[in-house]
Amino acid sequence: MPRSYIIRHAEPLDARGYITLIKDILSETPRVDTPYAPDEFNPSFERIRDRIMEVRATDNSLFLVAEAEHEVVGALTCGGGTLHADRHMTALGVYVARDWRDCGIGGALLAEAVRWAKASPVVERVELEVYARNARAIHLYEKHGFEHEGRKRRLYYQDGEPMDMLIMSLLLEKKRG
Ligand SMILES: CC(C)(COP(=O)(O)OP(=O)(O)OC[C@H]1O[C@@H](n2cnc3c(N)ncnc32)[C@H](O)[C@@H]1OP(=O)(O)O)[C@@H](O)C(=O)NCCC(=O)NCCS
Repeated sequence: MPRSYIIRHAEPLDARGYITLIKDILSETPRVDTPYAPDEFNPSFERIRDRIMEVRATDNSLFLVAEAEHEVVGALTCGGGTLHADRHMTALGVYVARDWRDCGIGGALLAEAVRWAKASPVVERVELEVYARNARAIHLYEKHGFEHEGRKRRLYYQDGEPMDMLIMSLLLEKKRG
C-alpha cells in the first residue's frame, strides 16, 4: 500500500522538524551527495523560522515540506535572487528522509515547485547543482523538465574523492512588463 504524506508550504513551527530532517540526512552513513558535513549545518530554530516567514512574503522563493506521521520527512527550498538583475532566478534544493525515499515524495515536491514556478509572474529560471554521480536526483530533475547546462569539475572533496557537480536548470518563458 502506498505510504501517505502531504506536501504543503512550510509554517514557522516547521523550523524544528526541518532542522532535524537536514541534520539526520547529513549524518547518514554512507554520506549523501551533499558537500555539507554534519557539523556545518547548525542554524538556530529562530533563523529557520524567520526564513520560512521571509519566504512566504517573497514571490521568487519557496519553502515546501512533506509531512507524514506528524513529522517533516522531506523539504524543498527555492532561494530567489535578491538583485534586480537576478530576481527572475531561484535556486532549488531538495531532501527526503532516508526511510521515505523512493516513495514519490521527491517527485511530488518537485512537481509542486515546477507548478509554482510556472504560475509565478517573476520566476523565469530555476537552477540547481547536483553531484554528477547522484543518478536518482538527476533522473528526477530530468523527469521534471530540467536540462543540463554544464559541469563543475572537481568542485568538492567527499571522503577524499574529488566530485564533479552538474549544473541544471528549467527555463520558463514569461511576458516581461
Ligand atoms: C534525491 C531525492 C530528493 C529523491 O527523492 P525521493 O523521494 O527518493 O524520489 P522519488 O521517490 O519521488 O523518485 C525517485 C525516482 O528515482 C528513481 N531512481 C531511484 N534510484 C535510482 C538510480 N540509482 N538511478 C536512477 N533513478 C533512480 C526511481 O525509480 C524514481 O523514478 P520514477 O519516479 O521515474 O519511478 C532523495 O533521494 C534524497 O533526499 N536523497 C538524498 C539527498 C539528495 O541527494 N538530495 C538532492 C541533492 S541535489
